[in-house]
Amino acid sequence: MVMDALAKPNENETVLKVRQFIAERGADGWDKAWEEDALFWDNGYEQKALVEALELDSSVMNLPPKGRALVPGCGRGYDAVYIAHKLPYTTIGMDLSPKACVAAQQYADSSPLGKQNKLDLSFVAGDFFTYNPEEKFDFIYDYTFFCAIPPALRPDWGKKMNELVKPGGYLITLAFPLDGDRPGGPPYSVNLPAYVAVLGSDWEKVLDKIPNEVIGTSVGRMRLVIYKKL
Ligand SMILES: C[S@@+](CC[C@H](N)C(=O)[O-])C[C@H]1O[C@@H](n2cnc3c(N)ncnc32)[C@H](O)[C@@H]1O
Repeated sequence: MVMDALAKPNENETVLKVRQFIAERGADGWDKAWEEDALFWDNGYEQKALVEALELDSSVMNLPPKGRALVPGCGRGYDAVYIAHKLPYTTIGMDLSPKACVAAQQYADSSPLGKQNKLDLSFVAGDFFTYNPEEKFDFIYDYTFFCAIPPALRPDWGKKMNELVKPGGYLITLAFPLDGDRPGGPPYSVNLPAYVAVLGSDWEKVLDKIPNEVIGTSVGRMRLVIYKKL
């Protein structure tokens, strides 16, 4: 299975390789995937659905003019760089793999969005599930993080989102891949009730739509869903 149209030709092989690393090493398998350049998900640009989300009318998502944003499982940081470029926010990309964070910093330093602007952006190597920042976030953005973690960790994902988003803040999800009951992963198949079940009742869904622009193999498998913390 593939995660994007711009996938490398040996995509299926790479997915299997990453699964093998994770089967052998647990979560440390992600760092091995970065070491081996087995990055089947790495499509080289920010998500168009994120661009759409950050241009929404304030009647849908009313972000404060300044604030803090978090991107867990940020990978090479395309989306974190975009957020820090688009908003005057302190933006943190975090990834379990130190190698991912080095690659993300290199991308931030060399990409047009990063190098032409002084971004308030940093990359933290660490485990989302044990992350305890001093301040909470105005929004957290999840794309291909929920699908990367074993389904048994989803309740912990929900608990951590509840801890880390400020009251009145937002969780922006690009729910993907919506593959029904396809077994196996990562990427594990997701569905919208799975997010809601672990977030609990302290959230209001303020948007749930197919993004305006979905390309390649993401077509039919992605929704932009935004929750507001009550
Ligand atoms: C499928 S990749 C997606 C990367 C990025 N969101 C993108 O779309 O390019 C999942 C990323 O999550 C990271 N990751 C996995 N478990 C994590 C954890 N517990 N805490 C933080 N990052 C984690 C992996 O190292 C990997 O870079």
